[in-house]
This record gives sequence, structure tokens and C-alpha cells, in this order.
Amino acid sequence: DWTPDSFIETTVAGLKEKLGGDKVVLGLSGGVDSSVAAVLLHHAIGKNLYCIFVDNGLLRKDEFESVLDSYKHMGLNVKGVDAKQRFYDALAGLTDPEKKRKAIGRVFIEVFDDEAHQVQDVKWLGQGTIYPDVIESVSVKGPSATIKSHHNVGGLPDFMKLKVVEPLNTLFKDEVRKVGKALGIDPNILGRHPFPGPGLAIRILGEVTPQKVAILQEADAIYINNLRSAGVYDKVWQAGTIFLPVQSVGVMGDERTYENVVCLRAVESLDGMTADWCHLPYDLLAKISNEIINNVKGINRVVYDISSKPPATIEWE
Ligand code: XMP
Repeated sequence: DWTPDSFIETTVAGLKEKLGGDKVVLGLSGGVDSSVAAVLLHHAIGKNLYCIFVDNGLLRKDEFESVLDSYKHMGLNVKGVDAKQRFYDALAGLTDPEKKRKAIGRVFIEVFDDEAHQVQDVKWLGQGTIYPDVIESVSVKGPSATIKSHHNVGGLPDFMKLKVVEPLNTLFKDEVRKVGKALGIDPNILGRHPFPGPGLAIRILGEVTPQKVAILQEADAIYINNLRSAGVYDKVWQAGTIFLPVQSVGVMGDERTYENVVCLRAVESLDGMTADWCHLPYDLLAKISNEIINNVKGINRVVYDISSKPPATIEWE
């Protein structure tokens, strides 16, 4: 019978045998899969696992610092890499969603390759691939898939020539969560909403600038904190705030304002393939809207997305 504990025991033993004294590099994303994969590998090979966590400047407010902290608390050998400016430079002037995604994928690979080169004699690339990623023939999701789509672009980066070790590639998402729980991983990491690899870049419609990122991070933090304190965060499958490329007239005191609009999105879903918009309570929406407009400079209007998938998608880009 499959239990998280039996899975952990046989997997760790198998990894020890397979990897021996070899070194492994692994990119952490802050998400469930890469975190669980890292902890399993850590149990097997300890400091020979070199984790790399890249700050692409497109994460939620304070996420890089807090997630890096919890990784360190778990005892992982993890290096946080501040690559914000490299991503912002690559995104400057881009408005097309697919061009934005490609630029982010390309810079991620460059940064990761630079970091992987710093690890002497590394033999393996660790990945948090889960079973649905394996069977999904064409995937546009996640760093591993981003890497796949770059296969044919002028030769492989060196880290892609490494042997690949994927300890979760037989598991479904709910099993990964159970294994993570049995490993004692922070419930905040295990219970976190899905978050796209390109991050806030695809929630800022049009060109991404550090200023827009900063505004969106503030509004989004107010939204997510309110979902948590109202006790609805865990009932929502995914939520996020979108920065619209629209200015509208407002009034603040005696002043007329002409500022941006953010849209709140929250959906219920099982796997992201279909999704219904969440019927969040009106008074919660009212509180969030007031807090955002009163506290986030540059935003004078908040709207709520009442579209389901299909025909809309969860993200706007
Ligand atoms: P859509 O917008 O297609 O999103 O309804 C379905 C799920 O996929 C996530 N998503 C992405 N994840 N890279 C990712 O890693 C991407 O480019 C990307 N685009 C969408 C989205 O957040 C939702 O969970």
C-alpha cells in the first residue's frame, strides 16, 4: 500500500544508491513540487544538493526573502540569487505576452547556467517534475518546460547536459502534498496557490516596469492577506491581482485623479484546466477595494473578474 512514509523511505534509499557522493543542482521556485523534491534529495545526499533560488523581480511582495528563509530553516543548502535587474532589462519594451514569457525563460536559463557553473564537478540536475508533467505531451508550464522549448535554440546550456534526477515523477499533486507534509515542510509552502513561472510579468498587461511591479505587489499583498485573514485563502484554488493598462478618473479629497486600475481574480478549480470565478463575499471585496485604493499610490479603481474558464483563461495574458 502506498503511504507517504513508505514512499519517502524507498525513495531516499534509492536516491542514496543512485547518487552516491555525486553533486546535484536544483532550481527552487517556492512552489510545492521543487520544495518537496529538494527535501527528499537533501535527506539522501545532504550538502551535496546545491539549491538555487532566483529572484526574478516578478514574485509576490516579500516572497523571495520569506521563502528563502524557510528553505534555510529546513536546512537546505540554498543560494538566493538576485537577478531582478537582468529580468527587468530583458523585459524592457516588450508588450507581447509570448515574447515576455520567452525573455523570462531565456534569462532564467542564463542565470541558472551561471550558477550551476559555480558548483565544481556537478553531475546531476534535480527537478520537481511530477507525473502529470511527464504525461503531458506539450506543456507550456514551469521552468522545466521552458527549458524544453529552448532545446533547439543554438545549443544546450551546460546544465542541460547533466543527468536528470526527478524523485517525484510518479506522483500526482495531492500525493506530493502528502509527502511534503510527512517530511515536515512548512504548511505555508505546501498550501500555497499555484503561481505562474513568469510571475507578475503576465499579470501586468503590456510592458513590465519595476514601478508597475512595485504597485502590483502592494495591491496583491493587501488582497492575499485579506483572503487569509477572512479564512477563505484555502477555499480558493488560485487568486491574484492584475495591473490593467488603463487609467480612469477618480477623486481624492478635492483632487481629481487619473490613475491605474487593478483587477482582482479568484477561481475555484481542480487542475486549472477549467475554472469558475469565486463568489467572494461582497463585504470582503469592499474591504479589499478600500484598502487598496486608500493605501496604494497609483491605483484609484478596483474591479473584480467574473469570467470562468472556458472561455476566459485564469491569467489575462
Ligand atoms: P490559464 O491562464 O491558461 O492558466 O487558464 C492555467 C494555470 O496555468 C498557470 N499558467 C502558467 N504557469 N507558466 C507557468 O508556469 C506560464 O507561462 C503560465 N501561464 C499560465 C496559471 O497561473 C494557472 O494556474
